[in-house]
Amino acid sequence: GAPVEADIGKLEPGQLIRVEWRGKPVWVLKRSQEALAEMAEMTDILRDPDSNESEQPESCKNVSRSIKPEVFIAVGICTHLGCSPTYRPEVAPEDLGPQWKGGFFCPCHGSLFDLSGRVYAGVPAPLNLVVPPHEYITDTRILIG
Ligand code: FES
Repeated sequence: GAPVEADIGKLEPGQLIRVEWRGKPVWVLKRSQEALAEMAEMTDILRDPDSNESEQPESCKNVSRSIKPEVFIAVGICTHLGCSPTYRPEVAPEDLGPQWKGGFFCPCHGSLFDLSGRVYAGVPAPLNLVVPPHEYITDTRILIG
């Protein structure tokens, strides 16, 4: 499949846009500085906080799983059985309450991911979400694929 472009020029913190790449949903999410700071603190509730087992390009093998810390790109497909998780920036799924710092919830079997697509411990999904290959063409345009 051909690479696709995403324009992030107008993306606000907390906003997520979707593009399609090779028939798959790809998310482009702008995260706030606050969200990035919170994620650094929550590693003990994640299965693979350092993304050692998950798929991401070398350029994204870092704490934010991204090239630019605030801009996160992921394939929007659950690593369990392939449903598409929903974006839950604020409202906690189930009873997570104040523990929830925003992320993604898979309605099929209840897997939870943080705003870097890192899977919570104790849910069915085995791996963090996949970060697809991508690069910046300009400061605000990304080529995915
Ligand atoms: Fe997402 Fe099963 S497909 S939890």
